[in-house]
Formats: sequence, C-alpha cells, structure tokens
Amino acid sequence: MEKFEFDDITFSEDTRLLYEGHHVNGMDISPEAFPLFMTTAFNMGNLDDVARTYDEKGYTYIRTRNPNRKSLADVLTFLEQGADSLIFSSGMGAITTTYFALFKPGDHMICNSNIYGETFDAITSLVKNYGVETDFVPFDDLDAVKAVIRPNTRMLYTEVASNPTDRLCDIETLAGIAHDAGALLMVDNTFTTPFCIKPLTLGADIVINSLTKFLNGHSDALAGSITVKDMALYEQIHTVRMLTGTSGCPFASWMIFRGIHTAGLRIKTQCENAAKLALALDQNPHVKTVNHPAVPSHPQHDLAEKLFSSPYLATGMFSFEMPNDRAKINAFMDRLHIANYAPTLGGIRTTLSYPLLSSHMHVPEEDLKKMNISGGLMRVSTGIESADDLIKDFTQALEVFDD
Ligand SMILES: Cc1ncc(COP(=O)(O)O)c(C=O)c1O
Repeated sequence: MEKFEFDDITFSEDTRLLYEGHHVNGMDISPEAFPLFMTTAFNMGNLDDVARTYDEKGYTYIRTRNPNRKSLADVLTFLEQGADSLIFSSGMGAITTTYFALFKPGDHMICNSNIYGETFDAITSLVKNYGVETDFVPFDDLDAVKAVIRPNTRMLYTEVASNPTDRLCDIETLAGIAHDAGALLMVDNTFTTPFCIKPLTLGADIVINSLTKFLNGHSDALAGSITVKDMALYEQIHTVRMLTGTSGCPFASWMIFRGIHTAGLRIKTQCENAAKLALALDQNPHVKTVNHPAVPSHPQHDLAEKLFSSPYLATGMFSFEMPNDRAKINAFMDRLHIANYAPTLGGIRTTLSYPLLSSHMHVPEEDLKKMNISGGLMRVSTGIESADDLIKDFTQALEVFDD
C-alpha cells in the first residue's frame, strides 16, 4: 500500500486526518477503507524469520501489536503532535496502565481535586495500595499545587476541563511547575479533545484520551489512548500494557478509526452547541449556575481565551445546577423530547448524566463539595442537533420549576 507523505506540501489538519494511519507495513494493496485485522496472531516462516520479526517489532501476537491499533495510534499521534501513541481497552485502562508503568512504591502524585470520579477512585482505592501517596489540590490554584510538591513527586495529573464542572487549568504553567520539580505532567484531554487543545504542545508529557467519547463519537465502542513525547515513556508503558493485557481490541480500534475521520466536523458543532445551550441556560431563571467556559461568569473565562482558539471551541461538555428538588428534576427529565439520560458522553446525540448517581457515585461528600457537585447538578454532553432545537426543548422542560 502506498504511504501518503506530506513533506513537500502543507495541508490542513482536516485534510491530513483522512490519510493518516492508512498504511500497513508489509501490505502492498491499497483498499479505500482501512481493513479490520481480526486475527490473534500473524504467521511467521522459519526461526530466522521469527527472530527478525521480533527484532523489528513486527506483528506477532494480538496483545503485543495489531494493525488496527497501530493505525488508530498513528492518527492520535498526528492529532496530539506526540512521538507515538498506545491504544488501550478503555480510557481507564490507559490511565491505570500508565500509573502502574510509571509509579513505584514511595512515589508521590499531585492530582487535581476536580477530576473524573473513577480516576479519583482508581487513585484512592487502587494506586494507594502500591505505596504511592497522592495529594488532591485544585489546579486552578497554582500556589496550592506548588505547596504540596515533595522531593519524591513523580507526576502531576489533571484534566484540561474537569468532569463535570469544566474547571480549566493552565497547562503551560503546570508543565513548568512539574518539570522544575523533576516530575511529569499527565493530562486527560477527553472533554476537550485534540481538536480543541493539544496539551503536549503546551509542555505536558503524557496525554490520555478516552476514545469511547468524542473521538469515536457514535457511542458504540470502548477504548482509550495515551500519547507521549518521549519514546522511553512509550516503551515503559507498552511493556506494562502487554503484561496487564489492557491492549485495545482490534474491532473497537477499527470502529474508532472510522469514527475519528469525521470527528473534526462533529466536535466543532458539539462545542458550538454546548456554548450556545450553556449561554441560554445561564439566562434561565431556574438555573443557578452554568459551568461552561463560554459563560462570562465562569471563573476562568479569560484562561479559556488563552487555551482555546475560542471558548466556543473548547468543549462539548457543560453542567448546570437546578434547584435540588428530586421530583422536579425527574419532571424536567420526563419533559425533555431529546437529550436522553446516558452515563457516557461525546456522542452525536445530546445526553444527560447526573454525577451523583454516575461518574461521582463513590466520591466522599467532603470531596464532592470541593468539586462543587451538588444534588441539583446535571451534566450535558452536547450532540449535533440544531442548537435552536436544544434551547427550545431545555427551556420548555425547565418550566416544571415555574410553580
Ligand atoms: C474525563 C474522563 N476520563 C476518562 C474516562 C474513562 O474512559 P472509559 O470509560 O473509556 O474507560 C472518562 C469516562 O467517562 C472520563 O469522563
């Protein structure tokens, strides 16, 4: 198969995305759509061929390497502008495998206190059992981050926009703080995606994406990725992925590779819709708070201007706070025509999720307070419906709070 090279001409990211990752080493046919390699192993010839294949890191066994994971990894590397990427069974597989690859007993980690609930659970109930201590501090307070640095701090960990409150952090400054302390900065880009921000170009060392979400976009496959700048990190994480068996499934990788070709178009609309709906809800008398960087009262509205090309192209996610009245919230949900409840995000249809009964179900009450997660908070993942229709439907549904 011919490999597309772009060395002698400059094309936009949207164009290149359609051609990245379409090459399979050793294959000299060129199908228009990338084939699915649903095989547990690749045949080899005699022992010399076996030895050569292993030496050249060719395709051997499915858990080690697979062309569908490789093509998807190449696209992620291109989008995130890293040195290489690895594809995992899920976003959580990517996060925990990276922790296990990089931490050793006695290490210290600093984690943003505004974080996805299951990342919080993985750190507090799993990683801690292996002798790694973690301080949780709000990363929008850089002095608080600096104050907990220790000589054994190995990693700073954060999301670009926290789940579910869209609190942002200044990646460039955090990378400086991490590197001054001899630590790595690992960033979860799931809410924001490489179409809105590329954390590695701002100094982060490792980026994780849950591919289950915006990058696949069709709510039908589970996978995660990490992208790194330093190949030594890649090798360390690759070994642990192989040993823990968290490698991504070829079929899911093929599905996501297919989905990612239209991700730029979808995510632009999802981000614009999120901003428009968030601004409309901000004007609604029944809504107490709206957490989206396009809303002028967002505490980091200015930082959003610096991080993204515009707060309208920041994230398709936001959350808003209604009065904490279970019966009325139920009535609001019943009255919506579109936007079903679904404990996922990033799909083409708008979905709701209630953090207290989903992503943050196991987070202790005092930590929930620090994360500003209350009983009235609803998270919205915005789809590609017409923004006017979404505003119309949410506005009429909120009328349940009129009396
Ligand atoms: C910000 C964030 N990171 C990571 C994950 C984990 O991804 P997955 O469900 O693919 O394991 C999620 C899942 O919702 C998430 O919201």
